[in-house]
Amino acid sequence: MDHSIAYWDRIAQRYARQPIANEADYQKKLEVTQHYLKPDMRVLEFGCGTGSTALVHGPLVREYIATDLAPAMIEIANGKLAASGPGNLHFEVAALDDFTARRERFDGVLGLNVLHLMEDRDKAIEQVYQLLNPGGVFISSTACLKQGLNPYRFIAPFTRLFKLPLVKAFTRRELEQSLERVGFNIDYRWVPDGNPLVYFLVAMK
Ligand SMILES: C[S@@+](CC[C@H](N)C(=O)[O-])C[C@H]1O[C@@H](n2cnc3c(N)ncnc32)[C@H](O)[C@@H]1O
Repeated sequence: MDHSIAYWDRIAQRYARQPIANEADYQKKLEVTQHYLKPDMRVLEFGCGTGSTALVHGPLVREYIATDLAPAMIEIANGKLAASGPGNLHFEVAALDDFTARRERFDGVLGLNVLHLMEDRDKAIEQVYQLLNPGGVFISSTACLKQGLNPYRFIAPFTRLFKLPLVKAFTRRELEQSLERVGFNIDYRWVPDGNPLVYFLVAMK
């Protein structure tokens, strides 16, 4: 297992216990997301962690598949699902590659707090584009660590030295360009007042 996934696996129990950093921002993201979700949609969420967001959105669509590369995250998510989850929601240890290889198609894809943790965001965004039906929606929330002068942009290349997972630093504009290059149109942009490193975007195929 690569060192990043081993890290997420190791901290899964602690991650599950952490309170949401900013409840008002989280609620706004849920609300905007739900504006785009429709009952007939098939939705994929990658990097779903312990599945809290999937459990909120799942009942609103036809089928919701939520994935993560860390088995311990998915184990916790499955525990929550067994307790109270809707029948159309499934958690799976899987990568975007698995879905593109099977030529699966979705009407919506969510990637929340994960694009900056991926080795190649351009490849991930290209795969999301491939996975979406025409008119499909990609909803992401991403730390843009190269935005402004903040210490994270300088630490990002060295996370491995501190036994932390891989983190990539890029600006909001660089993220937009990655989306636009493959053909996405950005429909909604939001930077939370209290956290200018977070960039919430809705992009349409
Ligand atoms: C910061 S957590 C975010 C979890 C959840 N989306 C949330 O917003 O609470 C990042 C998650 O992404 C997963 N992850 C990291 N790299 C990934 C990758 N390349 N593909 C899929 N999941 C990944 C980690 O295992 C972890 O569960």
